[in-house]
Amino acid sequence: MAKKSQATWGGRFSASPADLMLRFSESVSFDRRLAPFDIAGSKAHAAMLAKVGLITRQDRDAIHRGLDAILKEIKAGKFTWNTALEDVHMNIEHALTKRVPAAARLHTARSRNDQIATDMRLFFKYACAALGEKIVGAQRALLAVAKANPEVLIPGYTHLQRAQPVYLAHHLFAWLEMLERDRLRLAEVFAKANWCPLGSGAIAGTTLPINREYTAKLLGFVDAQGRPQVTQNSMDAVADRDVHLEFASACALFGVHLSRIAEDLILWMSSEFAFVDLPDAFCTGSSLMPQKKNPDACELLRGKSARLQGNLHTLLTLVKGLPLTYNRDLQEDKPAVFDSFDQAMLCADVLAGTVTGLKVKRAACAAAVADPALLATDLADYLVMQGVPFREAHHAVGAVVRLAEQKKAPLNRLTHADVLTVHAAFAADWVKVFDLRTALAKRHGTGMPGPLQVTRQFARWKKLLA
Ligand code: ARG
Repeated sequence: MAKKSQATWGGRFSASPADLMLRFSESVSFDRRLAPFDIAGSKAHAAMLAKVGLITRQDRDAIHRGLDAILKEIKAGKFTWNTALEDVHMNIEHALTKRVPAAARLHTARSRNDQIATDMRLFFKYACAALGEKIVGAQRALLAVAKANPEVLIPGYTHLQRAQPVYLAHHLFAWLEMLERDRLRLAEVFAKANWCPLGSGAIAGTTLPINREYTAKLLGFVDAQGRPQVTQNSMDAVADRDVHLEFASACALFGVHLSRIAEDLILWMSSEFAFVDLPDAFCTGSSLMPQKKNPDACELLRGKSARLQGNLHTLLTLVKGLPLTYNRDLQEDKPAVFDSFDQAMLCADVLAGTVTGLKVKRAACAAAVADPALLATDLADYLVMQGVPFREAHHAVGAVVRLAEQKKAPLNRLTHADVLTVHAAFAADWVKVFDLRTALAKRHGTGMPGPLQVTRQFARWKKLLA
């Protein structure tokens, strides 16, 4: 006779698992966080069993009361988790069995395979919504920085070389776009998760007369019209880990975005740029160099992105080559998923905290953006407006830049006579091109960094993030 602790599947065994095997195979140390979802799933399942007459209403009510009490205990930290009971499912079922005799009927027409698939889908719906909210928090913090500095101009960079002037707000709005895509991606993952696998059993459903749609509806697996959504193939339903992968992928990409934002901030805080100062509360000092203030929060955002990518890779490798359907390997999907969720949540908060205390060093920004070379393209556009073909204009302005370099003068300090030696189309007003505000105002098309568009984007983001 198997040990009592393995009573859920021990019937055909003559020896109980080795202690080493228990330690090796337990998942309750990390899947216990699924308890609220597991209990919601079990309550819905019990309600369905009663509805179709497989258990009595009294049994259903006893199971519901027992599960409610267990959840309360778990939330109060008073529940004793037992690794010998393997996982969250068996721990809860075992505790229920000790309270209510009807517990022995709960696992009717259910397997841990469709149970864990359901728990995880419920988790993903929660996680996508929660992370989406966190991202909004970070977006709002960025929007506040833009609002506090609406007039600040900075150089925009390509190849990390000064390229063209932009409003700081335009740069911050670029980050908002990246984060907005992350939010939309999470909403898509939410929709993918929104299908109920319960009723798939271990692999081939059940012979018992269950009502899958009823359970799905109770658990909120419904479309916009409130119609139940149930998975369509019992084998796929217990083998499928696509939502895990899509969630980890959304987190990994969010991490990449955070890393790029962090990298900009790190550069901006360096003495070489000095565009911003990051708050002390999100920086650290050096144990050796007394003068140092390091942007550690941003560096860790960059570092965490490696971890988020690693989790995605773990999951891809885990699933690759697995025969259908459920294999115990799949238990290893959870640490990676939970770590991605926890770290992504933290990262969103840390970005929000870091930028909330960010100070823009306006004088340094103004000095950097005053570089007239940033408007060399505008000078080429000027020639285009004089009727010069763009390629010829580009070449001519290139020659003007070289001339300025030879004369060791800023571009806008050359004389009209100087530029006339390069191209006859330069009129006396050529130097007006270098008025920064005028140059920005001309960029009024959708998506451009001119003041008209920046004002529009302020309104758009205010509405989107309200
Ligand atoms: N703890 C298991 C997991 O996370 C639950 C499913 C177990 N199913 C099984 N047939 N052993 O994957």
